[in-house]
Amino acid sequence: MDGESEASKTALMVCAYRARATRWAKPIMSDSWAEALAGEHGMEIAARFDARFPHMETWLALRVAYIDRLVGLAVDRLSVRQVVVLGAGYDTRAARLPRADVTFFEVDHPATQAAKRARLAELPGYPVDAAHYTSCDFEREDPVARLAATGFRTDEPALVIWEGVVPYLTEAAVRATLTTLARGLSPRTLLVFDFVGKKIAEGTEINERDRATRDYVGELGEPLRYGTNHVTPLLAACGYRWVRQLSFDELALEYLGDYDRERQYRFQHLALASPTVPPAGWP
Ligand SMILES: C[S@@+](CC[C@H](N)C(=O)[O-])C[C@H]1O[C@@H](n2cnc3c(N)ncnc32)[C@H](O)[C@@H]1O
Repeated sequence: MDGESEASKTALMVCAYRARATRWAKPIMSDSWAEALAGEHGMEIAARFDARFPHMETWLALRVAYIDRLVGLAVDRLSVRQVVVLGAGYDTRAARLPRADVTFFEVDHPATQAAKRARLAELPGYPVDAAHYTSCDFEREDPVARLAATGFRTDEPALVIWEGVVPYLTEAAVRATLTTLARGLSPRTLLVFDFVGKKIAEGTEINERDRATRDYVGELGEPLRYGTNHVTPLLAACGYRWVRQLSFDELALEYLGDYDRERQYRFQHLALASPTVPPAGWP
């Protein structure tokens, strides 16, 4: 999204998928606010995407379940007391996962953040004050400077969640943001983000089904821009010392108990990174 963009429609879409996954007979994540936040518009956008990428709901549920678990682990095992959600969209972790003495910070493109806050204001009972909010356009602004202005402590460790955002940014913005986080935050900070492979991001050598998936997000106004098959050298060059990668097939096996090649999860991965090696025993 560039500076003039409207509020993110992909954020509404994934919110709708969270609402749907919450209704599973055996849910692996739960977001009771998602249905109201996504509204009919979000549900429609998701329903139209189903034909292109039928396994999106499962993928999204896995992503949310894993990162929710990571919040608990970071607080309990790494003594993290600050959780930052970059490109937050309609994320509700501040409301869903409150912990004593833990502060949540939400950072997003100004248009999406304004739309979210307007929706939250109409949601009875939502704890709006559970997060500190600050806007930032990753294509042109420094999120660390923006965070510091909202009371974030750059000398204290944080868990930084960058979920569903990297594929929509230019490579320059991804590198600049990764670098500024590594240099500007406490070295004990842990970053988690998901990313896609180079082929789907660039639209080269992909099959018709993958092309339809790629085209749809472009039609929503947020074209895929960046993907990589080599996240470790990227993170090393941006100042990280510790890197782990997880595939969504591995997460599906763990959370759902099976492997299904048809799910098309070969293009998507999660990365964990820190400027220093976390204490032994992690993760
Ligand atoms: C697919 S949504 C993901 C939202 C949320 N993280 C989630 O998983 O539900 C993409 C998010 O990236 C944000 N985004 C895209 N381009 C951005 C930019 N240049 N600067 C800041 N945020 C951006 C959008 O505002 C939106 O919130």
